[in-house]
Amino acid sequence: MVPLRICTMPAVLCVAIYVAACARITIPSNGLASTPPMGWSSWNAFGTRIDDATVRATADAIAANGMREAGYIYVNIDDGWQGTRDSQGNLRGNPRFPDMGALAAYIHSKGLKLGIYSSPGKVTCSGYIGSYGYEKQDAATFAAWGIDYLKYDWCSASDEYADRQIPKAYQKMADALRATGRPIAFSVCEYGVANVTGWAPELGANLWRTSNDIKDSWQSVLGNVEMQAVYGSFAGPGHWNDPDMLEVGNGSMSDDEYRTHMSLWALSAAPLIAGNDLRTMSAATASTLLNAEVIAIDQDSLGKQATMSREGMLETWTKPLADGSVAVGFVNLDSAAARVTIDDRNLGLNRVPLSTRDLWAHDEIQFVNHLCSVSLPQHGVLLLKASTH
Ligand code: GLA
Repeated sequence: MVPLRICTMPAVLCVAIYVAACARITIPSNGLASTPPMGWSSWNAFGTRIDDATVRATADAIAANGMREAGYIYVNIDDGWQGTRDSQGNLRGNPRFPDMGALAAYIHSKGLKLGIYSSPGKVTCSGYIGSYGYEKQDAATFAAWGIDYLKYDWCSASDEYADRQIPKAYQKMADALRATGRPIAFSVCEYGVANVTGWAPELGANLWRTSNDIKDSWQSVLGNVEMQAVYGSFAGPGHWNDPDMLEVGNGSMSDDEYRTHMSLWALSAAPLIAGNDLRTMSAATASTLLNAEVIAIDQDSLGKQATMSREGMLETWTKPLADGSVAVGFVNLDSAAARVTIDDRNLGLNRVPLSTRDLWAHDEIQFVNHLCSVSLPQHGVLLLKASTH
C-alpha cells in the first residue's frame, strides 16, 4: 500500500476542507447493501496468484457448502486480474482471466454475484493498471461484463490528486457507476484517512475501509475493529464501516481467536467477506463462517454498530437489535484464560432478559441470582443475545 500524504494544516482546517468538498457531493443511495455485504475475496488467501479457475472453484464451493444460503453472495476478485488496454482504451483481463463476461455469467449461474477491483490511480497497489483517466470507460466495461461490486483502492492515486481531492476522485467513479444503470455495490478503500466517514456516505458508497490492511494476527484483527468503533454513528442500512476482509481460516490464529474475530465483525455490523481458501477449509473454519446465529447479529436490519467498553483485560461490545434485544460480546484480551462474571441485570436492556442465548454454544445461559461465571480461553469470546420477549 502506498502511504497517503497527511494533511499538514491544523485539524480544524483539514476537516473544513473535506466538509467543503462534501457539500458538492450529492449521490443518492443505490439501494444496495441494506445489510452489510457478505461474500468472499481473493486477496487474503491468494494475493495476486489468482485466476479464473480458482474463482470458479470458489463459487462452486460457496454454492455447495451452505455459504450461499447463509448469505455469502459476492465473489470478489481483488488485485491481479488486470491486463492491458486495447487500442480503444478498453481494459482487458490478463491471461489468467481470458473472458470476464463468461466468468460473470458462470458466477451468476450459481446464484452469486461477481466483484472486481480497480484504483483511482494509474496503477493499483500491486502494480496493475488503474482507472485514472478511464473512469467512465472502465465502469461501462465492468457493467457490460456483468460486474456487481467494485472495490476502488487508493494505492498510487496520491500521485494524481492532493488529499483534499480524495472525495472528488471517488466521486468520479461513483458517478460513472451510476451512469451505467447497473446496480454495482461501491466499496471505497482508502484505509480510513481524510475523514472518509464525512463524505463516503454522501457519495453513495456502500462500504468504506476504516483502517489499514488486515493481517492474519490477533493484534491486527483487534486493532482494526477497535479503530472502527469510533465511527459507529456513520454505519447503517446501505452504508457500512469496513474493518477489512475476514482472516478466519487462514492458519495463523487459533480457532478461539477466529471465533472472536467473527463475533467482533458481527457486533460491528461489518461486511463479512471471507478471505480464506474455501475449497479446502477445515470443519472448524466452516462452522465459524457458517454460524447462522452470529451471522444474524451482523445482518440485523436495525444496522447499528456495537459500542465498546473496556475494563482491565475484558472488552464488552453491545449491539442493539431490531427486535429490542441486544447482542453482547465479552472478549478476553489476556494471553491466559480468564473468568468473567456476567450479571443479567446489566446487559444493556432496561430489564432482566427472559432469554439469554450463547450464540457459539447454541444454548441458553443459566443465571443463579442473576449471575453467571464463565471461563474464557486466551483471546476467547462469549457472544450472547439477550431478549425480553
Ligand atoms: C491494498 C488494499 C488491500 C488489497 C491490496 C491489493 O493494500 O488495502 O485490501 O486490495 O491493496 O494490492
